[in-house]
Formats: sequence, structure tokens, C-alpha cells
Amino acid sequence: MRKPLMIARQGRRPAGLLGELVARVMARQTAAENDIVLELLQLDPADCVLEVGSGHGDTLAKAAGVASRGSLSGIDFSSVMHRRASRRHRGLVREGRVGFHFGNSDRLPYADRAFDKAYAVHTVYFWAAPLEHLTEIHRVLRPDGRFVLAFRAAEDTRFRATHPSEIYCIRPEGEIADLVRRAGFDVVDTLRRTVGAKLMSFVVAGRPS
Ligand SMILES: C[S@@+](CC[C@H](N)C(=O)[O-])C[C@H]1O[C@@H](n2cnc3c(N)ncnc32)[C@H](O)[C@@H]1O
Repeated sequence: MRKPLMIARQGRRPAGLLGELVARVMARQTAAENDIVLELLQLDPADCVLEVGSGHGDTLAKAAGVASRGSLSGIDFSSVMHRRASRRHRGLVREGRVGFHFGNSDRLPYADRAFDKAYAVHTVYFWAAPLEHLTEIHRVLRPDGRFVLAFRAAEDTRFRATHPSEIYCIRPEGEIADLVRRAGFDVVDTLRRTVGAKLMSFVVAGRPS
């Protein structure tokens, strides 16, 4: 069944009371693919890590367990998600280990080369001009840094059939990999994994030195 527009909009940018509910289920629904991303990132204890579209913040909190000496930042343009993540992980925030920032990923509020690793999960569909966001991620990643982009591609026919194109711009996997290259990255690998009913794609990229 096609997702109602009202719910699809909440996936793009959770807002209001319905957004609070969506935020609650989203963390559980996407945990498995986020765990794969954390593996693919090959985190080191001292890594500084950025998540774009950090939502509930649970993945960044898990990353903090591995990057135990590093610092972690998440950015999201939903005030509901930003508030929820900051509250839910207030211990890590208070310790200065994790920072949740409110903002749009087309203009990241971070210095050039600030991060060792970066990732974004289920967010690329909502970027009208993905190259702008990817170029920003490239800018804030250090040379030799690693970037993982996880998404459901057009090859996941069930996803295309159920998610309205008014909200979700669903691109073929190869097109996304090309955009990542055009932003300046070397694409190291493109993987597909079945996660429950989802066919997930993962583009693993590095910033050339
Ligand atoms: C479908 S949720 C995915 C959340 C999380 N990454 C996960 O896998 O569970 C997409 C998130 O990206 C955020 N988002 C979408 N476009 C964004 C943008 N341009 N800048 C910052 N955040 C964005 C939304 O507010 C939402 O919290």
C-alpha cells in the first residue's frame, strides 16, 4: 500500500505530535541498516564522526561506544528530532562526547576537514539537490576520511511502489554512486543487503588524500 502523503512528510522532516510518534518508531525500524553502516565505517576509538540526518540519535550514541575517545556530531533540520535526540542522549551531550545540531545539511556548520568519518542513512531521498549536500560532506571530511551513504534505491521496487514520489526522490543505485563521485569522493564499494523487507544499498567512499 502507498504511504499516505501525511506520513511520508513526517519521514522527511518529523514535526508536531505526529512527528513525535514517527520519531519513536523510526529508531527501531532502521536500527539494522544503521548497524551495518557502523561496521562499514570501520570506526577507530579516536575518530571524530558526523551523522547527517541524525534523527533520533541512537546510531550516533552507539558510535560513541566505539569511538570512545573521539567526538561525535549529528545534524538534523527537524526540531522534533533535534530535541528528542538531545534529550534521549543527554548524558553523552553533557559529557561533551556527542553534539546534536539543528540545521540543514546543504550548509554544514563545521570547519573544513573536521571529521574522520561521516555517514547518512535514509536521508538522500529528501535532498532536492543532492550534490550540494554531498559536496558539503566532502568539505568537512579529512583527506583519507571515510563516508558511507545508506539508502533504498530504485532497484527496491517495493520501496518505489509504496513511497510517494512527491516526497521521496528515489534514484537508481548507480546514479547515487555517480553523485558521490562528482562530489569529489572515490567510491570504494557499493553493496546491497536485504534487511527484513528492505533492499538496502550502501555506497562506501573515501576522500582522496
Ligand atoms: C527517515 S529519517 C532517518 C533518520 C536516521 N538517519 C535513521 O536512519 O533512522 C531522515 C532524517 O533526516 C533529516 N533530514 C532530511 N533532510 C535533511 C536536511 N536537508 N538537513 C538535515 N536533516 C535532514 C530528517 O529531519 C529526518 O530526521
